[in-house]
Amino acid sequence: MKQKIQSKARPKSILQYSKRTMSKLIIANWKSQKTLDAAQKWWNDFSSLYQESAHCTVVVAPSFTLLSSIEVLASDTGIHLGAQDVSPFPMGSYTGGVNAQQLRDVGVEYVIVGHSERRQHFHETSQDVAKKIREVLSAGMTPIVCVDKEYIDEQASLLNSEEMVKCVLAYEPVAAIGSGQPEDVGTVGDVIKKIKSVFGPVPVIYGGSVNEINVQEYVLVSDGALVGSASLDGEKFATLVNSLH
Ligand code: PGA
Repeated sequence: MKQKIQSKARPKSILQYSKRTMSKLIIANWKSQKTLDAAQKWWNDFSSLYQESAHCTVVVAPSFTLLSSIEVLASDTGIHLGAQDVSPFPMGSYTGGVNAQQLRDVGVEYVIVGHSERRQHFHETSQDVAKKIREVLSAGMTPIVCVDKEYIDEQASLLNSEEMVKCVLAYEPVAAIGSGQPEDVGTVGDVIKKIKSVFGPVPVIYGGSVNEINVQEYVLVSDGALVGSASLDGEKFATLVNSLH
């Protein structure tokens, strides 16, 4: 990467996300994609089109290895930094773990926890996810807690009400993820109501094949979107975000 990478060591702002802003939360989940060069290209493409607006809170969630680079590139913009996972343990002798304090240290404000790909491929349980949520909250960041229908109640039962109200929930039906077939808007709206009835008045976003064409329908029934495939191209993602102004 051409620009010198140097962490600012502290986040520009650590704010636990509040629905009070009424802005839609749009998160780019890059998953296990992109090298430094690809991230730099994405940033150039995205920033040439992106128009900042009070209607949207935009979060980019790259791999751990890219966090500091994105933090530097995004430092004077309104873009927020997200991580895709966190260790369930605090700082200590946990080889390979990247803990919540370390994420906060490089400017992370939001942490995706319990994504179905982690539940499936890394065998994470709702108990593991609850531990991660606690670590994220104690470091002053906002957990983005991913749930599908069948474990809404189970995930909630492992948290107390104080913890629950500090979370953002992401309703992510597994069949809709990466398939190009989003769940129909009516069903999404119904499940989001159910999630709010269980977790309280928390922001709930939707994820599963959201793109620059359909995003406007989904934000009518949700507080935002978790975007995978359609976030990988910087221009497309800027178009998606700009369409919500
Ligand atoms: P998708 O992924 O947008 O490619 O369906 C969403 C997600 O996994 O969060």
